Amino acid sequence: MDLSDAHGQCWLIEMRHSAYKLGINPEGRLLHYYWGPRLPFVTDYPLNAPAQYDDVHLQRRLNWEEYPPATGFHFTEPALKVTFADGTRDVRLRFDTVATSASTPSAGKRDQLVLTLRDEFYPLRVELHYRTYADHDILERWAVLANDSDQPLALESALSATWQLPALSEGAYRMTHLTGRWAAETQISQTAVPLGRTILESRRGLSSREANPFCMIDELRDGAGATETHGTVWATALAWSGNWKIACDAVADPARLTLSAGINDYDFAWQLRPGEHFTTPTCIGTFTTAGFGAASRNLHAYQRDIVLPRAFAHQPRPILYNSWEAVGFSVNDVNQRELAARAAQIGIELFVVDDGWFGLRTSDSAGLGDWYVNSEKFPNGLAPLIDEVHDLGMRFGLWVEPEMVNPNSDLYRAHPDWAYHYPTRPRLQERNQFVLNLARDDVADYVLQTLDHLLTQHAIDYIKWDFNRSLTELGWPVAPLAQQREATTRHIHAFYAIVETLRARHPSVLWEVCAGGGGRADLGSLARFDQCWTSDNTDPYDRLCIQEGYSLAYPARTMAAWVSPSPMSHDVNNGVVSMRFRFHSAMMGVLGIGDDLRTYTPQQIATASALIEEYKRIRPLVQDGAAYRLLSPRHNPHSAVQFVSPDGTSSVIFVFQHRQHYWQAPPVVYPQGLRPDLRYALTGPADEADQLPRSGAAHAQLGVHPQLNGHFGSSLLHLQAV
Ligand code: DGJ
Repeated sequence: MDLSDAHGQCWLIEMRHSAYKLGINPEGRLLHYYWGPRLPFVTDYPLNAPAQYDDVHLQRRLNWEEYPPATGFHFTEPALKVTFADGTRDVRLRFDTVATSASTPSAGKRDQLVLTLRDEFYPLRVELHYRTYADHDILERWAVLANDSDQPLALESALSATWQLPALSEGAYRMTHLTGRWAAETQISQTAVPLGRTILESRRGLSSREANPFCMIDELRDGAGATETHGTVWATALAWSGNWKIACDAVADPARLTLSAGINDYDFAWQLRPGEHFTTPTCIGTFTTAGFGAASRNLHAYQRDIVLPRAFAHQPRPILYNSWEAVGFSVNDVNQRELAARAAQIGIELFVVDDGWFGLRTSDSAGLGDWYVNSEKFPNGLAPLIDEVHDLGMRFGLWVEPEMVNPNSDLYRAHPDWAYHYPTRPRLQERNQFVLNLARDDVADYVLQTLDHLLTQHAIDYIKWDFNRSLTELGWPVAPLAQQREATTRHIHAFYAIVETLRARHPSVLWEVCAGGGGRADLGSLARFDQCWTSDNTDPYDRLCIQEGYSLAYPARTMAAWVSPSPMSHDVNNGVVSMRFRFHSAMMGVLGIGDDLRTYTPQQIATASALIEEYKRIRPLVQDGAAYRLLSPRHNPHSAVQFVSPDGTSSVIFVFQHRQHYWQAPPVVYPQGLRPDLRYALTGPADEADQLPRSGAAHAQLGVHPQLNGHFGSSLLHLQAV
């Protein structure tokens, strides 16, 4: 962080490869100056914001304010919308003070800059926080909005950050983001940013499968943009698991783009009483000139080193078995013991009982809310099963969906008012369930105590926390009117607080976040959960695309992936795929098995055991290494992903052939990330010539030639420095 400006009125944040600069104009407004590559000299960076923001005739241009409030001639997305007690809905922020700090913990140098702005007239204080992780090229931003007056005020929008991208002298901006639906999460969507406003958002009460709080922007010139390995890319992601919004305001001549990200202002309001403050979620930005792959690796390293809960951040994720695809709701003491015995035999490390173990849960129409063990299915409780799982040398895990209630449950019969509702409206059911109103302190406390009790009473090592419906009719009738639109935000605050408290009380438990598939894949969840369920679609070929999309933003050590029956139990695609391909697809994340192991032949047990052994050997590479997307599965008959160890001495390459036509030859795959001067030996099914030790530079230049056979063929190649 450089404060060398003569007047102390601008700040330069230099990271390893990128830099960010902002400053105060003579009026006291905080303006954005620069976000791009790191330049050789401090004096290279602009001394001002690029354009006049206050020329009435240039209204159509985007202003350069760092945190533009709803005021004056600003017609793009405001970062802040306030109604003061006297009805004024206009905010005019001026710079007040600055504070900086620096520290160098083990995860690398971090600097913090806090700029305090105040409204010209009203005692509204806005603290803009910037924290940088120089080694990761990551800038975190959030805002604290404080009411220093003796009157309440209402926040109507309080975003985390506005990102100003530079004006382009030629070309246009392009956006890459993640869309989807159930069983098809994190689909990559890439489109030239249209002029005007584009909104990416969730209004479902969860970050959602349909859109992900993340996007990447690159420059399009002559129709071509950045690639995996080349080109300028900006990326942003929001640490929030509820309703969110990323608004993109784009103008032409010159091309300019502003990204505004934060909690969605849809159905949002927050009463700030005298003396209170509101802290927005963190929004991060990263910049690179080395393409989408480098942007993803910045995000991955940042999550591994900074975001993920520290307790297990660098621990190997255990290989789990999960009961869901094998037996669905019909879990019981007998079938779980049978499965556990088989699981231990093939080398599973964590045995998980999914949905169906509690209350009167025989289908999705009953039981949610009643978190006591179903005595018909487990006549002696869970303890004997847990003991057996532990005796078999595995950890024990359990599924819960604590924010939900079925109308057919003891909890709902006792507390129908605990679900979100409007008294005059019918309550909408999705998957036969309602959402508990965690904005209510009594409900949040009940959920906390219930889970605390469950974890205290049982030797549980892992929890899978599910969330299977969207929020609708967000009525909170007992709250004062002015507070009612705080519900979705308070819900997420309570969700986070419960998980944080439980983690503190039960520090040895590993946590997986899930939302009817991958509906809660976001940095807010990943700050509290060790891993994330990626999709209910475990078809190994569909997964290649889902996982590629997931990898744009999130690292492999968080991406839960199962080997499941073929064809899948949900009849997804009805395709039959070899065990090898299914394993290879799932081995690119946190490996799990969902197959019904009771049906495995001795041959299948041997194959599964060998592949699990192989995963254990390469796990450090997959979970801690740098990921390179070598060939995309989208629209290609082949795909390939490579992982390289942090020291660059070993690497694995997964190669897939989705279809084979006309005896077509397998692709040549060009490894990345190897050290050019080291010699590597290649092992695995590849051409003989590739197996002679070659330098990293030679491998990258000549490529490797994997052997792949027929439809759904796959190969796993190892490169080891010699
Ligand atoms: C949805 C999850 O995504 C599945 O993995 C499974 O846990 C079911 N819920 C259980 O109801």
